[in-house]
Amino acid sequence: MCSLLRSSIAMCVALQLLQLGIVHPSASHLRITHLPGQPQVEFQQFSGYVTVDDRNQQALFFYFAEAEKDAASKPLVLWLNGGPGCSSLGVGAFSENGPFRPKGEALVRNQFSWNREANMLYLETPIGVGFSYSTDTSSYEGVNDEITARDNLVFLKNWFIKFPEYRNRSLFIVGESYAGHYVPQLAELMLQFNKKEKLFNLKGIALGNPVLEFATDFNSRAEFFWSHGLISDTTYKVFTSVCNYSRYVREYYNGAVSPVCSSVMSQVSTETSRFVDKYDVTLDVCLSSVFSQTKVLNPQQVTETIDVCVEDETVNYLNRKDVQSALHARLVGVQRWSACSNVLDYELRDLEIPTITVVGKLVQEGIPVLVYSGDQDSVIPLTGSRTLVHKLAKKLGLKTTVPYRVWFEKQQVGGWTQVYGDILSFATIRGASHEAPFSQPERALVLFKSFLEGRPMPQEF
Ligand SMILES: *[C@@H]1O[C@H](CO)[C@@H](O)[C@H](O)[C@H]1NC(C)=O
Ligand SMILES: *[C@@H]1O[C@H](CO)[C@@H](O)[C@H](O)[C@H]1NC(C)=O
Repeated sequence: MCSLLRSSIAMCVALQLLQLGIVHPSASHLRITHLPGQPQVEFQQFSGYVTVDDRNQQALFFYFAEAEKDAASKPLVLWLNGGPGCSSLGVGAFSENGPFRPKGEALVRNQFSWNREANMLYLETPIGVGFSYSTDTSSYEGVNDEITARDNLVFLKNWFIKFPEYRNRSLFIVGESYAGHYVPQLAELMLQFNKKEKLFNLKGIALGNPVLEFATDFNSRAEFFWSHGLISDTTYKVFTSVCNYSRYVREYYNGAVSPVCSSVMSQVSTETSRFVDKYDVTLDVCLSSVFSQTKVLNPQQVTETIDVCVEDETVNYLNRKDVQSALHARLVGVQRWSACSNVLDYELRDLEIPTITVVGKLVQEGIPVLVYSGDQDSVIPLTGSRTLVHKLAKKLGLKTTVPYRVWFEKQQVGGWTQVYGDILSFATIRGASHEAPFSQPERALVLFKSFLEGRPMPQEF
């Protein structure tokens, strides 16, 4: 009906909002009327800035996609990507589990978008990531886990002022990779804050291929490479005895790689090859990313269903002026939007902070935790995560409530799962990459739904 009333767009929008039943008066200026190239949708989208400091110099950018149906009765989910320094908008929303994926000039609908189950809030954090900024560039130096967690908490507090109807909503935080630091650290701050004022109705956290404990996570790589045929027996031996990956990474971030580690790593890199995506050892690489200047070879997989070049598409899309304007986004101190920040100088030694202990505290305070792994990822392999969860369950004295078993999506095995004490869960997503919802969107959505409902993964089909 509305499309007929072309002469009165404003009225039409107002009408649609009334029909949807929810109006956010304090956030009306943040509403996205239409993203360039997007198909028509029934849900509302918002985006813009929330300041996180007293002097209004630092602002974090968010994109909020309300649930497709019954937004008022669905939980609120905060999604965080890792890096540190990568964008939840570009990577999370536009390549993984958001409602759209960029394709050329247009946006195509993601059938398995997580806003089918929840109101999805994507945050570009910390400052210096994506459209988030500080007008004082010296604040990009030495940003660390503590600053990030604090800013994220302030962000949410201030975001609730703009969206008060979400204040008391069931809240889940989900993140991936380095968000294995961000998510538990933010959750811990929330529980502390709740002791003064019960603001955060935190119902659970989920962590995908997360960094939880430096040595265990990083040293799982050697065996993963070896067992998937990416390195030889000889190389496996030196990669586990002469110089392991945690040692290499530590030396690298300290700015002094020893000759012995340098030689081991060069042997590893030669064998694994740059034509294998380390974030999914079975997926084809986006050749235009590998050869950023020349497309010497052309991708031949016409039957490919996963667009391995989606990141390139996202970079192009988010750098369009009309898109930035529709999103209420600005580029402050940078020339272009990029998927991972070029200006942020993150304290990388924080990689070694073990957050599995924070996860333990959350579980002890009654917060359900799910650790899930895309099983084709060699960067944070499932084996390290599974070991860490198992050890934690043992330490907390949690008994197995769901024994290690397969779970199903449609009529196929979607992965494996185990649950401890009905509160701490582990699950793999079969055939999925580091960015699990990107390569296995349908399976990832099943996992997300079970997590929100507090149920074990489906046992039958
Ligand atoms: C928050 O939600 C709970 C139920 O989940 C309800 O009992 C409580 O009254 C609500 N508080 C506010 C301030 O709306
Ligand atoms: C990795 O190397 C470090 C330093 O050489 C050593 O302390 C550690 O035990 C090694 N870890 C594994 C899992 O091999």
